Amino acid sequence: MIVLSKHVALVAGVFSSLAFTVTAAPSTPQADPCAKFAGQTFVVPSDALACLKSFPFNETLRQNVLNNVARVFDFFTFEDFYLKSPPPFQESTTNIRADLAKINSTKFATDYDFNRALYDFTTQLNDGHTRFFPNCYNTFQNLLPAPVVTLEENGVQNVFVAPDSVEFVSLLGSEFTGFFDKLGFDWQRLAGAKVLEIEGMDAYAWADHIASTQSGNYLDHGVRVNSVFSSYRISGTDFSQRFGDIAGPAFPDQNFLTMTLIPVNSTKAETVKVPYLADYLGLPFTDQASFWEANCAANDETNGVDLKSAGLEAARATRKLARAVIVDKGPASGVGLPGPFVPTLPQTAGSTGVIKSYILPGNKTGVMFVGSFEGDFVQFQTDTQAAIAEFKSAGVTRLILDLTNNGGGFVCLGFFLHQFLAGAQIGYPGFQSTSRANPLAQKILQADIAQGLTDQITFYSPDNWAFLNDTEMPLNFDYNDPSVPFKINGVTDQNSIRFHDICPLSVQPPEEPPFDLKNVAIVGNANCASTCAMFSTLMFERHQTKVAIFGGKPGLQMEYKGMAGNQVLEWTDLDTEIKTAGVKDDPLAPPDLLVQVNMRHNWRTAWSFLDENVPIAYKSELPQLRFPYTSDTYNNPQNLWIFAESKLFD
Ligand SMILES: *[C@@H]1O[C@H](CO)[C@@H](O)[C@H](O)[C@H]1NC(C)=O
Ligand SMILES: *[C@@H]1O[C@H](CO)[C@@H](O)[C@H](O)[C@H]1NC(C)=O
Ligand SMILES: *[C@@H]1O[C@H](CO)[C@@H](O)[C@H](O)[C@H]1NC(C)=O
Ligand SMILES: *[C@@H]1O[C@H](CO)[C@@H](O)[C@H](O)[C@H]1NC(C)=O
Ligand SMILES: *[C@@H]1O[C@H](CO)[C@@H](O)[C@H](O)[C@H]1NC(C)=O
Repeated sequence: MIVLSKHVALVAGVFSSLAFTVTAAPSTPQADPCAKFAGQTFVVPSDALACLKSFPFNETLRQNVLNNVARVFDFFTFEDFYLKSPPPFQESTTNIRADLAKINSTKFATDYDFNRALYDFTTQLNDGHTRFFPNCYNTFQNLLPAPVVTLEENGVQNVFVAPDSVEFVSLLGSEFTGFFDKLGFDWQRLAGAKVLEIEGMDAYAWADHIASTQSGNYLDHGVRVNSVFSSYRISGTDFSQRFGDIAGPAFPDQNFLTMTLIPVNSTKAETVKVPYLADYLGLPFTDQASFWEANCAANDETNGVDLKSAGLEAARATRKLARAVIVDKGPASGVGLPGPFVPTLPQTAGSTGVIKSYILPGNKTGVMFVGSFEGDFVQFQTDTQAAIAEFKSAGVTRLILDLTNNGGGFVCLGFFLHQFLAGAQIGYPGFQSTSRANPLAQKILQADIAQGLTDQITFYSPDNWAFLNDTEMPLNFDYNDPSVPFKINGVTDQNSIRFHDICPLSVQPPEEPPFDLKNVAIVGNANCASTCAMFSTLMFERHQTKVAIFGGKPGLQMEYKGMAGNQVLEWTDLDTEIKTAGVKDDPLAPPDLLVQVNMRHNWRTAWSFLDENVPIAYKSELPQLRFPYTSDTYNNPQNLWIFAESKLFD
């Protein structure tokens, strides 16, 4: 992505000599590379990239963005862990400040190249809470009509083109599939093919490569390998299938993916150049200038606001709710799970939101597919209550929780589900938490206290948090003074004191667990992030809940959970804290952004229940059970649950 300065000079030289020799000829205006496909949903990747790369590098924008990003990193709880990431997470080791300095001094040919370097650097931190998203350049997803999966067949695991890829890819519509028909490329015949090599590498080695360079989000490499494959999920409140990072990368980098494969019913390996087609996810535009205006130039939502201004404060009736969630960009159009693979069992009550619940044949086992902890905060609680009430009245005694591709959501909903299953008798259902007490954080909190600001408009106000005895902190309690030193990798950082979350629940969890906790088990693909990771860690650390993880690379270790921060702040959230506290003029405050980008960060640490000196993010915990996917289970949740029932319970 980084173009050396001599190349820039060379291009400039070519232009000037051209200008010299062709002065006599009438000049044809340079065609607008964005106008070329304006109004289209699907775009040839190299055309998409030409538009993205048409905006010149701008030093003012680099300084604005990098200053912002560097000041946001001051709040990032795990910064010093990166200097030497503890095993088995060594792959993420890097010096964040040195990386920023390098991006600050590299010569970039285009604005895209600068943004891409920053995107790649934060992606490879493998922390889904701490990523840089340049809206301008996150406007496409490249899609391959041959998504891949890892399946076991006759006791051996291999990479395959997803056997359901005809049903799945067809859901993108004829505008997508028509492109391949017009090229005369028969993508349908690839469904189910065994993939031996990708881009000249062993197929699993390619999966490792994409997991290392593009997937991000999860500290554990093994978990990231599962992100490269296609898998079922709940997106919003609907069953869906994820393309996976090999078939659905975030940038239109490649026009083709070269695969060596053996088609179904053939014995002969052949090498096929499979075309990608880019899906445009941005706002409507007509040319390069309007593309920039719509997707790149800062707008009213790019930066935070001072919530003290009367109207905004009055509008807010309840406390702010902490979120811990990753961002998984997917086709805006949304691709469902093909009909034949959606569970056919009747859903129980409480299945219209992010949770879908079922009773498996035989009436012994209930299943809650918890797609996320997002959506309607109250409905999640009433849905949980309704599903479990129906399970109980049907005589169900065992529970499977499917956490496949659960990207997290409201922190308190993870704690709620834990407390609902374990019974209110367990007391505080979360983790000890801290945030960084850097000099600006100290000033924000002091300013909030001085002005008597509350949890209605700020996350820093003391009344957001409780002491370890679960008494809410008084409004004048400065939890950053004195700050608490924490040393890691030879660096001492200042943190807040340890505190607990406060959860404003609408549904009171039962006193006793609804099921014997020995009969509660978790299944999933370990792509379980943020609040989901906290929930599964709570179940594992406090109740030894059995976790069965599917997929991954055969023989490669995999954690049962993904990225486990305690709370994420988007840039606008942090800026709103700074502006509402009234400290935006402080030299340590990140500047307002001139472009639509978002540097989000992990703002709070959750400390392990088993070892309170280790963040759960860095506590290595393996699932008790690993199973390969098969052609029956990889896209078929109901088949997977019935298989899991036979393996998890006696
Ligand atoms: C660089 O970006 C700034 C901020 O948007 C703008 O004012 C300036 O004109 C740009 N510089 C060039 C050379 O385009
Ligand atoms: C980038 O370099 C400029 C010029 O050397 C410097 O003023 C600025 O502080 C640097 N920014 C960061 C984030 O390091
Ligand atoms: C493969 O062969 C089987 C058995 O002859 C047939 O039923 C199936 O349709 C074939 N599949 C493809 C993709 O040709
Ligand atoms: C399970 O419950 C349903 C509904 O109450 C009932 O119709 C069915 O016969 C039960 N099945 C078994 C195996 O008990
Ligand atoms: C809880 O702990 C805080 C801080 O140590 C203390 O001030 C407060 O009195 C305690 N509350 C109760 C009810 O014990």
